[in-house]
Amino acid sequence: MNAKIIIDLINGDKFFSLNRLAAGTDIEFSCPIEEYNAYLNQEAIKSQDDMVAVTYLLRERSAGAIAAYMSVIADAIKLSAAEKELHNLDYPFKTLPAMKIAKLAVAGSFKERYRGIGSYMIDLAAGIATETYRERFACRFVTVDADIEHDQGVVAFYAKNGFVRNTEMNSKKSKTVNMRKDLFIKT
Ligand SMILES: CC(C)(COP(=O)(O)OP(=O)(O)OC[C@H]1O[C@@H](n2cnc3c(N)ncnc32)[C@H](O)[C@@H]1OP(=O)(O)O)[C@@H](O)C(=O)NCCC(=O)NCCS
Repeated sequence: MNAKIIIDLINGDKFFSLNRLAAGTDIEFSCPIEEYNAYLNQEAIKSQDDMVAVTYLLRERSAGAIAAYMSVIADAIKLSAAEKELHNLDYPFKTLPAMKIAKLAVAGSFKERYRGIGSYMIDLAAGIATETYRERFACRFVTVDADIEHDQGVVAFYAKNGFVRNTEMNSKKSKTVNMRKDLFIKT
């Protein structure tokens, strides 16, 4: 068996391109969770037209196949006093600006050939949020509702990518774990 190619921010652009979903795009995509396939096929373009979620497709440069997708939305998160202190955010308000990864999925066939596509998508999402801050409006965190209903392991996946749990935003009964990743880089 051939070794998997490891994708990261250094080589990712050589293999893949990220494009905003466009009307009339042929969608051929399959990950193990049917709900995520159905969303991309049936709901993503409507959500985008309704200004509710913007979807990005990661395509393999060689054949154009869809390797992964993510949908992103504006978000605001509540942080406790201790969490704000952790990030050096000495502000009287509880809510801070963020961008949420509302959906993220990697195609099963690509997971067989590559490692790191999911992490690469998070890096690209962080890039979009940072660009938004630089050019348009403030966005300090990338957030996610990690979907533990389908896979408990996703919390570990996000933790490996720099996310931590939001103590103010989670209840024990929830099917998701709300997490944040700080975009601030001290210069
Ligand atoms: C979760 C998902 C996006 C991860 O993508 P991926 O390309 O497999 O992830 P990466 O290769 O970047 O993995 C990075 C690290 O996280 C770990 N990891 C990835 N998915 C994991 C999971 N489900 N459970 C536990 N660990 C996981 C990897 O083993 C790897 O660890 P390592 O660096 O120690 O080797 C992908 O499995 C997927 O599409 N799942 C179905 C949809 C889904 O659950 N989306 C998230 C919903 S919030």
